[in-house]
Amino acid sequence: MESDSGNGVKAHGYKTIVYIICMVAALGGLLFGLDQGFIANSLDTLTQHYKFEVHDKESYSAILATGGIFGALLSGLFARFLGRKRSLVLAGFIFTAASALSALLPPLPMLSVCRFALGFGVGIASFIVPLYLSETAPAAIRGSMGTLFQLMITIGIFVISLSNVFIARVFIGPTTSLPLMFLTITLFAALMFAGSFILPESPRWLMLKGRKDRAVAVLQRTLGTQAEIDKEIGEIEEALHGPQGAGFGIVFRGYFFKVLLVGVLLQMFQQLVGINMMIYYAPTIFGYAGMTGLIAMMTVPTVNMLFTFPAIHLVEKWGRKKLLYVGAIAMIITMLAAGFAFQSIGSVSDPSLIGDAPKTLLLISVIIYIFGFAVSWGPVVWLVCSEIFPLEGREVGMTITTMINWTFAGLVMNYALSFMSRFGNASIFYVFAGFCVIAILFVAAFVPETKGITLEKLEFNLKKGVRLRNLGNR
Ligand code: BGC
Repeated sequence: MESDSGNGVKAHGYKTIVYIICMVAALGGLLFGLDQGFIANSLDTLTQHYKFEVHDKESYSAILATGGIFGALLSGLFARFLGRKRSLVLAGFIFTAASALSALLPPLPMLSVCRFALGFGVGIASFIVPLYLSETAPAAIRGSMGTLFQLMITIGIFVISLSNVFIARVFIGPTTSLPLMFLTITLFAALMFAGSFILPESPRWLMLKGRKDRAVAVLQRTLGTQAEIDKEIGEIEEALHGPQGAGFGIVFRGYFFKVLLVGVLLQMFQQLVGINMMIYYAPTIFGYAGMTGLIAMMTVPTVNMLFTFPAIHLVEKWGRKKLLYVGAIAMIITMLAAGFAFQSIGSVSDPSLIGDAPKTLLLISVIIYIFGFAVSWGPVVWLVCSEIFPLEGREVGMTITTMINWTFAGLVMNYALSFMSRFGNASIFYVFAGFCVIAILFVAAFVPETKGITLEKLEFNLKKGVRLRNLGNR
């Protein structure tokens, strides 16, 4: 049984404020997923209302990524000058305002501005939430909070896919269903916006600004005993005397540049293996093969969410590189199989004439492909990018690598469907399979195994000039 120690701390738990911190942070991840997963099952409804052509579909989808690039670029500045809490309030406000405005079904240019703004909010949240958590959540739960963020992204994709299917079926006609789809995002966004007001500011940022008394007051709210508070304050002070966040000039230092390239290429390949073609356009692609209904709409988000759970465990057990290999091999085989399925469909123009064999092959390929990504390249790339940079360049490194992620995500969203219509439906699967092969070679040659090694040791090896691949050697 839990007992209350008198100051709101449960004997076997944390203070209520700690749960609020985690919840708001989880909502940040959820909103990332809600915006990312919104398109797949709303595209038909959007097309009915806005009379989308293929390229309109792509540009409306991809403008989220452009917003993400700018959000990620500016989030470092927001974090430093506004503080962590106010940056989260800002992200919450942008999410709420942009999704509520979209629900009014404004003309397309305005709707696109709103989606750009949502991307901007996602860019801020994906940088600030993990940073805020690492500075504010009690040490014992920091690690699991990091993985919670990734899990919430996939849960967000699942939730919005399901609710969009439900809304489209129950409320016929885009003028009713489309506003409801946007209002679903608004609901969660408003929760995050309201929740972020009651968050305490990050004690580390307060100390950075010389406001020790306020930092102590925050720690009194989140921690149990005076001894814990003194220890935390001591550690922050020590850290503040260590290397501080460097400016963008750090990219010109040889050791940093090398490791930056690893992060940049990892994020580039994370997108060039083709995941967002599936996350965004799976129902459209299944439609090309004559498959509609729940299987076409829900397979990708469901498999994606379910297989992120084992990843959290496997990443520590198997290590990062082994997972990247396994995932990439699964993706190569399944992309080739999906390409083959489309080739055997050939130029059958009436989808109802397509036989069961290519449909089954396509479905199985997509399931195993998503499994391959969810268990490996999805979580591992973000994790490795948070580990490889030396402390003084971590903010810069993560800003740049996050921007690269969004840049290549945008390219895939922007060109996947037109590539298929220009070069044939099978072609794009072979291209992505080719990128998976290059990705494996790159991992083998340059990516260090970071399992079970301290970040300090990685940094020490990097500055000593150890080869990239061996940075994780103890
Ligand atoms: C990727 C996103 C992708 C998501 C799917 C993330 O790791 O960065 O682009 O949509 O995984 O779960």
